Amino acid sequence: MADRRRRPAARPARPPRPDRGAGWTGREFEVTVGPVAHGGHCVARHEGRVVFVRHALPGERVVVRVTEDRQPGYCRADAVEVLEAAADRVERPCPHSGPGRCGGCDWQHVSWEGQRRLKADVVREQLTRLGGLDAADPVLAGLAVEALPGGPLRWRSRARFAVGRDGVPGLRRHRSHDVHVLDDCPITVEPAARAVLSRRWPGAGTVDVAVDSAGTVTTTRLDRRGVPTSTRVLRAGDDVPAEPAGRAGRHAAGRDWEVEGTGFWQVHEAAADALVGAVSALAGVRPGETVLDLYAGAGLLGGALAPGVGESGRVVCVEADAEACAAAEVNLGDLPQAEVWQGEVDAEGLTGLLEELGGVPDVVVLDPPRAGAGAAVSRVLAGTGARAVVYVACDPASLGRDVAAFTGAGYRLAALRAFDAFPMTAHVECVALLVPAP
Ligand SMILES: C[S@@+](CC[C@H](N)C(=O)[O-])C[C@H]1O[C@@H](n2cnc3c(N)ncnc32)[C@H](O)[C@@H]1O
Repeated sequence: MADRRRRPAARPARPPRPDRGAGWTGREFEVTVGPVAHGGHCVARHEGRVVFVRHALPGERVVVRVTEDRQPGYCRADAVEVLEAAADRVERPCPHSGPGRCGGCDWQHVSWEGQRRLKADVVREQLTRLGGLDAADPVLAGLAVEALPGGPLRWRSRARFAVGRDGVPGLRRHRSHDVHVLDDCPITVEPAARAVLSRRWPGAGTVDVAVDSAGTVTTTRLDRRGVPTSTRVLRAGDDVPAEPAGRAGRHAAGRDWEVEGTGFWQVHEAAADALVGAVSALAGVRPGETVLDLYAGAGLLGGALAPGVGESGRVVCVEADAEACAAAEVNLGDLPQAEVWQGEVDAEGLTGLLEELGGVPDVVVLDPPRAGAGAAVSRVLAGTGARAVVYVACDPASLGRDVAAFTGAGYRLAALRAFDAFPMTAHVECVALLVPAP
């Protein structure tokens, strides 16, 4: 037997120190661009490291310049020269877009159809990797991202612009606090872009702008801490500021809706109609049913489903924000079957709400913020046994994580639609139908 005391214990070989690649920032090299990834970039590899490349397309041969190198496993880079272009590459319609310029858009260099193919790939990848679904699942395999009416430009009816220390407005550069000065933003509806970008905003940090269905433009100036300091209202076709109008008016799903100036409403002018159509078709509500509309905002989705359940049914809209609840009360005032509950959607609150409801909801609609509902809320909802859960998601990663929670709790993904509600950007809106698994 070996004398262990005499032999110094062999120290386990130290794993090689991860190459933090501190020197890569600013380096230029050629890569062949691999698949698209969530976040508006594609994946390439160089000297054993992953490089997230912006301004490129899968299959292209490009020269990249490394823009950020802070993580051992990967670095970020911009394609600065295209050696072999993909078929979907086009001239950028916006002169402000491109490496090192405005960071507002991700896919200006891609045809509109090509953008939708990229987004479909991202949704499929997130739902397989994070959602645990099989890529061959027909729901995923058949997914196509649907265009909304109006084309890829001038669709944005709400925006937040940044303001430099000199008071000049623009948008931030990608992953930077620097403001890229703009004279126009071609994805923003023209009156909104003009209201913000045609003047200076001394002392402001950001400016929010929204245009309602009547063409009234509301700008809200926020200071450098993000606190709103003043609001200015311009009625359609009028350059003279008017009295604040209170809530903005929106028209969607055949109804008029009031929304708080800073309250949530879909950004794309055609998105509310498209989402209402998809949610209504997937929910298929019947007279007498009970519907839960969680994260209800001003009541858009619950209000659209209420006629379907009729006066013998019930729609309970749950929303945390007091002003949104006040708007929802007004919006749903003519629908006696609809009620608005102010409160946080979390696992505990939801359990209490379900007890108060005193029965299983037939249909649950949820439209959470970007982070998703989370596993705990998803599991409580799956525990209700509702015959249909219609999940509206603006982030396919969050949707993927929550779908995994639902499938782990006895539901399956029965249908999925996706909409290009944010052309030129990497964002995509999904509507998923989850039903109890047999
Ligand atoms: C994506 S919006 C959806 C609004 C609405 N469904 C629509 O289509 O207009 C998300 C809404 O959830 C609300 N919200 C965020 N976190 C919440 C929470 N924990 N509980 C309840 N509502 C929440 C926000 O105030 C916002 O109105």
